[in-house]
Amino acid sequence: MILPIVAYGDPVLRKEGEDIEKDYPELDKLIADMWETMYNAHGVGLAAPQIGKAIRLFLVDTSGFVEEGEEDEEGLKDFKKVFINAEIIEEDGNEFVFNEGCLSIPDVRGDVDRPERIRIRYRDENWQEHEEVYTGLKARVIQHEYDHIDGILFTDYLSPLRKNMLKKKLNQISKGQVKVSYRMKFPFAK
Ligand code: NI
Repeated sequence: MILPIVAYGDPVLRKEGEDIEKDYPELDKLIADMWETMYNAHGVGLAAPQIGKAIRLFLVDTSGFVEEGEEDEEGLKDFKKVFINAEIIEEDGNEFVFNEGCLSIPDVRGDVDRPERIRIRYRDENWQEHEEVYTGLKARVIQHEYDHIDGILFTDYLSPLRKNMLKKKLNQISKGQVKVSYRMKFPFAK
């Protein structure tokens, strides 16, 4: 089932997500719905707050970065994972800039600097515990989604000047005054 994606301005996007228990009600169904919602919106990641739940769950599938026939040096085509109760325990390496976007903030992009390497501990959808190191674009998408479960949005990192330029646009998004090809829920829609 495709769920509405919560738009910028909704307080749920600013909540710190809570860890969940293994017996969280209908977790499999929630994960399946989130995949469907993410693919429908052509996203490479989706975090639970974006569908209105302030819990520490997000999904990543970076295959959308690789065009047909293109080289895939980073192995992005087959990178598809569920992260539950994730904790980034190290973040280091050179910062690099990447132009980020977010399904909750349609039509807005911005250059964000982040460290290139992370070590993350999490549980997968089978409740197996993992501790893994990621770099490059995989790390980048994980960092962006991980921020969502801490109530942080990529626009928070933009320069004061750029934030100021975006103010009106972000207000319009909150009110639903934006063209978007997927189902959304706008906090201040009339
Ligand atoms: Ni996002």
